Amino acid sequence: MFTTRQISSIAKRAFSTSTSSNAAKVAVLGAAGGIGQPLSLLLKQSSLISHLSLYDIVNTPGVAADLSHINSDSKVSGHIPDKNGLKEALTGCDVVVIPAGVPRKPGMTRDDLFNTNASIVRDLAKACAEHCPKAHILVIANPVNSTVPIVAEVFKKAGVFDPKRLFGVTTLDVVRASRFVSEVKKVSTEDAKITVIGGHSGVTIVPLLSQSGHSFTEEEVKALTHRIQFGGDEVVKAKNGTGSATLSMAFAGARFTNSLLEATVAGKKNIVEPTFVKSDVFAKEGVEYFATNVELGPNGVEKIHPVGKVNAYEQGLIDAAVPELKSNIAKGKAFIKA
Ligand code: NAD
Ligand code: LMR
Repeated sequence: MFTTRQISSIAKRAFSTSTSSNAAKVAVLGAAGGIGQPLSLLLKQSSLISHLSLYDIVNTPGVAADLSHINSDSKVSGHIPDKNGLKEALTGCDVVVIPAGVPRKPGMTRDDLFNTNASIVRDLAKACAEHCPKAHILVIANPVNSTVPIVAEVFKKAGVFDPKRLFGVTTLDVVRASRFVSEVKKVSTEDAKITVIGGHSGVTIVPLLSQSGHSFTEEEVKALTHRIQFGGDEVVKAKNGTGSATLSMAFAGARFTNSLLEATVAGKKNIVEPTFVKSDVFAKEGVEYFATNVELGPNGVEKIHPVGKVNAYEQGLIDAAVPELKSNIAKGKAFIKA
């Protein structure tokens, strides 16, 4: 979750007129969508961004014109495929956030999105590799467990892959876990910091409630774990065919982007966020990408934290996550190799 400090600093930035001197160019790809618009609104408030570059296949000129009237200092530009729009959007970017892709409908799994979203992400990744090869790439588009390896393979093919600069955004799982635990334990979300590891779909989402400092009954652990793993389904069902989480995802995406900018642009230390990255933590089990807490630094990934102490129940969750993750990752890699 945003800490109280982060919320108050975002609020201050909303009315601040100054942008940091070394602020970044940040692109949002899929900026006219359900996530893209509120995410762009939140990012427009950041003094660490000098240029917010919005790309989508439709409607970005309107979104950009609207956001450009907000009196924070960052410039906003809107791009569509016409007139080399993607190249214009990406050239000079320090950070690219990718929520482009279709969302789930009730009854679908995230993996059911693969056929449509894999090629969208592949094509956007190709453009990033060409026009901003050193940018930090933040992947929101589902299925994250496969789209992150897709971006990696595209960058490898182009000879520009830097594993420190590629992130699958799993922050929403951590935001949800904090909120759900705070409700059950009747504490502030500040006092409900939950580590969530693994990936971003069903059983690959592994909350480590035993590390939270709270005690839970067996029923609470089972119910909370299920709700955190399948929180996305709750929203998909409630939206009844009109999409999946957008506003909470925009919040989570802005939190992760801001944290990365604090580490890269503002040079802050000890910024730790959970994220799905190339990791050695389960490499022996054949899992190349895995989310744990990651310390962010000037070049992106600074230090990957280990899983830490887990109980038998959580070990069972990890054991269930590993084969699913392995297969999701292999599917993404195979898509590009083919
Ligand atoms: P949406 O349909 O509202 O918006 C997607 C946007 O992407 C649309 O504006 C569309 O025009 C655009 N788009 C499609 N193809 C594009 C392309 N080739 N280039 C640029 N833009 C393109 O969907 P949404 O609700 O914003 O969700 C977007 C994605 O994010 C989905 O795949 C969804 O499953 C995923 N998601 C991930 C998380 C997470 O935790 N990582 C959370 C929520 C949603
Ligand atoms: C979520 O966790 O809300 C997203 O991954 C969207 C989804 O499909 O559930």
